[in-house]
Amino acid sequence: MFIKNFYAICLVILGSFFIACASQKLSHYWPIYKSDATSSSYSAADQINKTNVQHLQMIWKFDPEDAPAGVRYGKYECNPIVVNGRIYATSARRRVYAIDGVTGAKIWGFDPFDGARGGGMCRGVTYWTDGIEERILFTADNYLFALNATTGQSIGSFGQNGKVDLNQNLGVDPDSIWVKPTTPGIIYRDKIILGSEVSESYDAAPGHLRAYNVKTGAMEWIFHTIPQPGEYGYESWPPEAYKYTGGANNWAGMCLDTARGIVYAPLGSPTYDFYGANRKGENLFGNSLVALDAASGKLLWHFQTVHHDLWDYDLPAPPNLVTVEKDGKMIDAVSITTKTGFIFLFDRVTGEPIYPIEERPVPAATIDGEETWPTQPIPTHPAPFSRQRLTEDNLTDVSAEAHDTVLKRFREMRSDGLFTPADIRGTIMLPGTRGGAEWGGSAYDPATSILYVNGNESPEILTLHQAGVENKGRSFTFNQYGQRYYSAFCSSCHGKDLAGDISSPSLQNLGSRLAKSETLEKIRKGSGRMPGFTLMTENEEKAIIAFLYDEGKDEMVPRNSNPKTNKGYQNVTAYSYFLDPDGFPAISQPWGTLNAYNCVTGAYEWQVPLGNYPEKQKDGGPSTGAENWGGPIVTAGGLVFIAATKDEKFRAFDKTNGNLLWETSLPGGGYATPTTYMHKGRQYVIIAVTGTNENPTGNIVAFALPKKIKS
Ligand code: HEC
Repeated sequence: MFIKNFYAICLVILGSFFIACASQKLSHYWPIYKSDATSSSYSAADQINKTNVQHLQMIWKFDPEDAPAGVRYGKYECNPIVVNGRIYATSARRRVYAIDGVTGAKIWGFDPFDGARGGGMCRGVTYWTDGIEERILFTADNYLFALNATTGQSIGSFGQNGKVDLNQNLGVDPDSIWVKPTTPGIIYRDKIILGSEVSESYDAAPGHLRAYNVKTGAMEWIFHTIPQPGEYGYESWPPEAYKYTGGANNWAGMCLDTARGIVYAPLGSPTYDFYGANRKGENLFGNSLVALDAASGKLLWHFQTVHHDLWDYDLPAPPNLVTVEKDGKMIDAVSITTKTGFIFLFDRVTGEPIYPIEERPVPAATIDGEETWPTQPIPTHPAPFSRQRLTEDNLTDVSAEAHDTVLKRFREMRSDGLFTPADIRGTIMLPGTRGGAEWGGSAYDPATSILYVNGNESPEILTLHQAGVENKGRSFTFNQYGQRYYSAFCSSCHGKDLAGDISSPSLQNLGSRLAKSETLEKIRKGSGRMPGFTLMTENEEKAIIAFLYDEGKDEMVPRNSNPKTNKGYQNVTAYSYFLDPDGFPAISQPWGTLNAYNCVTGAYEWQVPLGNYPEKQKDGGPSTGAENWGGPIVTAGGLVFIAATKDEKFRAFDKTNGNLLWETSLPGGGYATPTTYMHKGRQYVIIAVTGTNENPTGNIVAFALPKKIKS
């Protein structure tokens, strides 16, 4: 008896010793998206510090070379993970690679599309080990894959032949939806908890959260983010809405309180994003932070940050586990940043807000059928880190000409501040759909309780257009009608000349790449940031195809072919920025910021512009700030690293005061969150860089100190 217990105790001690060693070692790596399960983006590595950071040099570049000739480049948002000196990352074309962390050499690659085109936005992979076996889990299209981390071979016993179909088990026809997670899932014991990206349009799949067994691929639990009859929150929708609405999905990632077994998932908007006549009510759990029991998926608490969302104000970033001080007591809290520019803080266990949140009246809708929710929750503290209303006083002042042009346009539209719903005249939205905060999320320094968050300041325009009302007046050929349709619905992303931009592909010479049926499929279903155009009439579809394929110049569209049916409204300027004639934001500077919020004192330590356009900078004035996508990281070396900005720079700031200590130009846009790790005595900082037309795959670049400086 004694002996048996003695051994048991020894085993426990030994076991915890190994776990302690492993976690200590891992803390110098980056084994999880955004560093760890708390989503801290923090590293204990301190070899690179305030005094030597200016010596950083690019030491290698990993080029996946997985783009067939002529393929367009896409944004590369991966945050690579690093375990025991080995990097695991997706490419911009969504292939998976293991890379040597010292040399940048490829160890193995895996193509989930088996040679087919594939692609789609992806922010990285998930690592799992039970101490014996190591697996890499990741998603491509609507599949969850499991690979052997050592060899990159698919694990045949996982799901069906190595993959699990995520379109299944959602309670809707799996063939009528798409579910494509963009941010990696999070591990709790032997489960991977997964969110999804779904369509933003009327046909979207529900964004239910699910946990799968890491070993078998079996679904272990599902949490209905759009509640079903009898479930909490069901009454916040029309009775049948759970059958036909979608969204309320977690696309931004989650964080986990491992010790307490609580997973925190920020959720997106219910669909359709900009018109909600068919989903009257508060629409739980749309735009909510939900805290679930990670073992069972049971709801512990929730907070809805936007009621009946009409702005695509998804919760865009993984929450952070933080410590706050309240009335002299330290409280384990969870923070969430929003596109609207707020930081919400809650007691991690009870969900109790740390500071009062007030329901304040907001502007009502003017569009028929819409019932805006009369109030929205506004945190009384801390102050927002982004401006929230465009007025005549904060319009751009880069030049008199820019100001006057913008002012004229401003006066034609509605600008009644945060939570003003869209109408047909045009409504100014600030912050826009890209925040405020974005998917890069915040970095949190556990030593100082300071949260670092980057923000955007760029107004957008919403304009509703009634769908299904076509060709009432003049005569058009199908080609002309398609051109009109294109200008109204597509040009805001694909450009007036079809040339595309950084976020949307060119549609020129479409005929050489896509069959008409494939194009139509894209238009109907949407993909990534592209909304599905589910409300198009047959003639509209025929017309847009005629225009894109340069046909239909002789055949006329029948007049009044489609009676007015009010099938719904579509935001025809969705995601369009309100810009000055030179293409800069219609608001005064700064256009992007980096903010340091102290969770203990409750005050901002500093706020600085992030990014710079020297040609728009005032003489001797501060940096202009620039739009940014991708998050910051913070290190024990006293630094905050962030790229993200449209000026394609990579920067390091002094974490105590926001002083810029180092910057370098990247070979493309660093629209990703960097990763840092120590391996064999050297600290590395790596970041995914978006490609260019010449090099569409982009690459991962690594920085380190020259060997003589660090020693
Ligand atoms: C909100 C921005 C946005 C709007 C509006 C939009 N698109 Fe797109 N579109 C995109 C993005 C982003 C992609 C790339 C999607 C991906 O990578 O999966 C895309 C892809 C496409 C593709 C596939 C191109 C290729 O080479 O694979 C076609 C065709 C297309 N869009 C047509 C249209 C048409 C026609 C309209 C208007 C009816 C439209 N889009 C409206 C953003 C948009």
